[in-house]
Amino acid sequence: MKIGIYPGSFDPITFGHLDIIIRASKLVDQLVIGVLKNISKKTVFTVEERVELVSRVLKDNNLNSNIRVESFDGLLVDFAKEMNASFIVRGLRAITDFDYELQLAQTNHKMAQDIDTIFFTTRLEYSYLSSSTVREIASFGGDIEQFVPESIVKTVYDKYNAIRSV
Ligand code: PNS
Repeated sequence: MKIGIYPGSFDPITFGHLDIIIRASKLVDQLVIGVLKNISKKTVFTVEERVELVSRVLKDNNLNSNIRVESFDGLLVDFAKEMNASFIVRGLRAITDFDYELQLAQTNHKMAQDIDTIFFTTRLEYSYLSSSTVREIASFGGDIEQFVPESIVKTVYDKYNAIRSV
């Protein structure tokens, strides 16, 4: 059974992530979306919220058959081994992603030689899109509907309204 891990912060999940999830899930028997707990990196959404948002988007898109969502901490390769995964899936948007992604893939391969990284080139319409862009726009009350799935739009706005009110 071919198991792939699609890791990330997903703070929050975007249409770009969803596109990679759909395409990667056709390549493997099981795709595990690994949501990083990220103690060092400050996230807007808690890990529980990020897992719930990803799960909600999967459910709304009827994508539950061979995809599951898990949170993880520590090294990605350790999580991949725990999940019996032989592939790590990452999206490449532009050349600016390349340096970091190459370093990550090569370091991971050095640590775990039976785990390979597969890159999906992001669809052109999402090549500009990132969670940080979404967060920035939402923080100013801008329109995020074309960037994140409809089912999570309100939750993202609610989060920023809550942040603004403290
Ligand atoms: O969505 P992101 O923030 O770009 O995802 C980054 C992620 C989760 C892939 C990366 O930070 C990661 O794998 N973190 C876990 C720690 C690890 O294994 N680092 C790689 C060795 S340097």
